[in-house]
Amino acid sequence: MGSSRRIAVLGSGYVGLTVAAGLASMRHEVLCSDIAESKIDQLSSGVVSIVEDGLTDLILAMVAKGRLKFTSSNLEAISDAEFVFLCLPTPQGRDGSPDITTTFSVAREIGPHLAPNSIVINKSTVPVGTAHKVRDILNRPDVDVVSNPEFLSEGSAVLDFLQPDRIVIGSDSRENGLRVAELYGDPTDHKCIVTDTLSAELIKYACNAYLATRLTFINTMAELCEAVGADIRTVAAGMGTDHRIGTAFLNSGPGWGGSCFPKDTEALIHMAEAAGCDITLVKTVVSANAGHTERIVEKVETAVGGNVADKVVAVWGLAFKAGTNDLRNSPALKIVTALQERGAIVRAYDPAMEKDSLDGVELVHSKEDACVGADVLLVATEWTEFSLVDLATIGGLMSHRSIVDARNIIRIEDALDAGFDYVGVGVGRVSTIRLLNLEAG
Ligand code: UDX
Repeated sequence: MGSSRRIAVLGSGYVGLTVAAGLASMRHEVLCSDIAESKIDQLSSGVVSIVEDGLTDLILAMVAKGRLKFTSSNLEAISDAEFVFLCLPTPQGRDGSPDITTTFSVAREIGPHLAPNSIVINKSTVPVGTAHKVRDILNRPDVDVVSNPEFLSEGSAVLDFLQPDRIVIGSDSRENGLRVAELYGDPTDHKCIVTDTLSAELIKYACNAYLATRLTFINTMAELCEAVGADIRTVAAGMGTDHRIGTAFLNSGPGWGGSCFPKDTEALIHMAEAAGCDITLVKTVVSANAGHTERIVEKVETAVGGNVADKVVAVWGLAFKAGTNDLRNSPALKIVTALQERGAIVRAYDPAMEKDSLDGVELVHSKEDACVGADVLLVATEWTEFSLVDLATIGGLMSHRSIVDARNIIRIEDALDAGFDYVGVGVGRVSTIRLLNLEAG
């Protein structure tokens, strides 16, 4: 482990807080800022409003050790910092390109006040070329700007930070790149990729676009499975055993969503077009994903006889994936909205949401409440508790025993035994699977 450094983290969202607490756990002294004074007041009194596994405990432990502090002043945070991490929002602008005005305005604010020879590090996902632009705005020949993109998944962000697959560091000066690498420990001990800033910035977009493409590929295969009577779960397992392919990110579902993939694929398309590159592949992935989500809506329509108007649809799960309460670009929410537009009466339950209603959707407080009198049950988020239910009891509450399982987490045999009509994603003809399972058993 390298020596303790003075670090400022600007931005106390889920990335900033994870980075700040993670760096403090590596024995650095971290001062974390945010313009939202109420957030800083809360954090200073030990209240963390973000739902992220292990984050609150880590923050509280680091605050108790005196290695993590909070301030609402960026200038106070940077006053004697050797390293300044920018963890600022980069939302999608109206034209699909990332809006990095916050990054630029913070650069303008801090430029004249940075400690001599400090290093500014871009952690947020920013378009290729941003590090160079920030360096121009800072207008400080002694201060370098380094790219160090985050690869944090919601729900496992703390673990992703503390045990990363790799740490990507982009710097136009190898010496400064290594200075940043040393923050994470001995650069020869861990998986550090030190490269130029432009390549580092692109690695982040390339990863997310690749993962989105992989998911769209498996969802496309799922549609083919339905057409030919194959089972996507077996096809994915068979693919995954090839070490060049691997098993991760091959679960077919309702289409990908969340706060990153939709924004980053759009941003990549925008960047490529601006650079005069043909990016048809990624554009096709984005439109195929939207089409795939729409096909789940059609499955629900078919399940209730073709028209959802005035039908009661029970929905299990609204979050874009299990383990989070994040609804940003959630496929579940898109499906619910489409069903409501077609006249369906939707009643939803999500274990991470305690309100009574949300964005015009009626929320109930249990799986069972959602199903009372329902014509169909849609499983939209893969919370484990949904696969552990007694389906006979659930069926007894519903008007019709019908399941559309957009996450393939319900055991088909259990659904059939409880008298349900079952429709999954890419699971082909249920009778075929049953036969295969019986033969295997
Ligand atoms: C993602 C990246 O994984 C992370 O590295 C990056 O920094 C931010 O974006 P996150 O948005 O938290 O993280 O979610 P992730 O777990 O990657 O899932 C993205 C989407 O893919 C979700 O909609 C999820 O349901 C879907 N998904 C994922 C599948 O449909 N099937 C899978 O097998 C995996």
